[in-house]
Amino acid sequence: MAEAAKSGILGVGKYLPERILTNSDLERMVETSDEWITTRTGIKERRIAGENETTSDLATKAARNAIEDAGLQVSDIDMIIVATITSDNLFPSTSCMVQSKLGAGTIPAFDVSAACSGFVYGLAVADQFVKGGLCKHPLVIAAEKMSTIVNWEDRGTCVLFGDGAGAVVLGPVEEGGILGVHLGADGVNGQLLKMKSVGSYDSGLARQAAREPDTIFMEGNALFKHAVKLMADAAVAVIEPLGLKGEDISLIVPHQANIRILNMVAKRLGVNPDEKLFLNIEKYGNMSAASSAVAFAEAVEEGRIKKGDVVLLDAFGGGLTWGAMAIQW
Ligand code: ACO
Repeated sequence: MAEAAKSGILGVGKYLPERILTNSDLERMVETSDEWITTRTGIKERRIAGENETTSDLATKAARNAIEDAGLQVSDIDMIIVATITSDNLFPSTSCMVQSKLGAGTIPAFDVSAACSGFVYGLAVADQFVKGGLCKHPLVIAAEKMSTIVNWEDRGTCVLFGDGAGAVVLGPVEEGGILGVHLGADGVNGQLLKMKSVGSYDSGLARQAAREPDTIFMEGNALFKHAVKLMADAAVAVIEPLGLKGEDISLIVPHQANIRILNMVAKRLGVNPDEKLFLNIEKYGNMSAASSAVAFAEAVEEGRIKKGDVVLLDAFGGGLTWGAMAIQW
């Protein structure tokens, strides 16, 4: 295959489980209030996957939508990358399960583990495969079933997370496409956000065996400060070498962990959050890697991204990890 000069997004898709868990529902489960959750985070409700609905099920549905949106067939896809921290099992990888569920033959499939930054990390990997001419139509999916790794008795974390999946198909493009990417990680501070055991399927089995499954541990306050600084720094690291400023970005599509973090990032970049921040945190909460993927799909669906626009993906999460990517539509 000839080397492609550029790669871009050919299609987007998403899937959100039907069940909605509202802040009022949570008021009946833990000592919390709609007022606290809304003012501290911006979240009003989140989706919760069914007991037998695994991360690969969510991923497969989002993937089918993205393939259709790109005007392609499953047989056109030549690689599957899934960004997740809630894999169905330790192995086989969720991407292999998606490959099987899609009926995508024997194309390469692997997972990327970068928590909330996973979608940007996955896109960066796929971008290289397309630019290098090794792949024509990689599928990048970010899917999470956070509800299986949340401690539903810990009000400090259980109000934050939700389940969902977003997907894109990449391909060679003549103009625009992925303009630049910046990735980073800080393992030294990784203990601020962690979980020992794995998986949507595994934790279900653990419960059946009456073992205490491990759940998310998070030092929210410390993470908050890292998130604001690192998301703003990552954005600048991508746009500055392109000769762009905050005002040149048409839309920022960020990881949706906390509305206060996002407003502070916008302020640091000198952009008006009301105009340039795409937000859906109110409806879905923090879906880890899937947050920015679903937000990107919704921004496209809602016509918020026009031809020629420069869009900035910006994410931060466990690891610690962060990543930003500039894409011209
Ligand atoms: N309802 C009511 N009160 C609560 C709740 C709740 N759900 N949760 C905590 N509180 C209480 C605390 O106990 C504390 O009470 P105290 O003052 O009596 O001790 C008070 O509210 C303030 O708690 P803080 O933790 O200081 O609240 P904060 O304003 O920092 O908000 C939050 C917490 C929302 C977690 C915030 O710190 C945050 O968003 N952090 C960043 C998260 C993030 O970016 N994570 C990385 C991505 S996630 C990933 O990678 C998977």
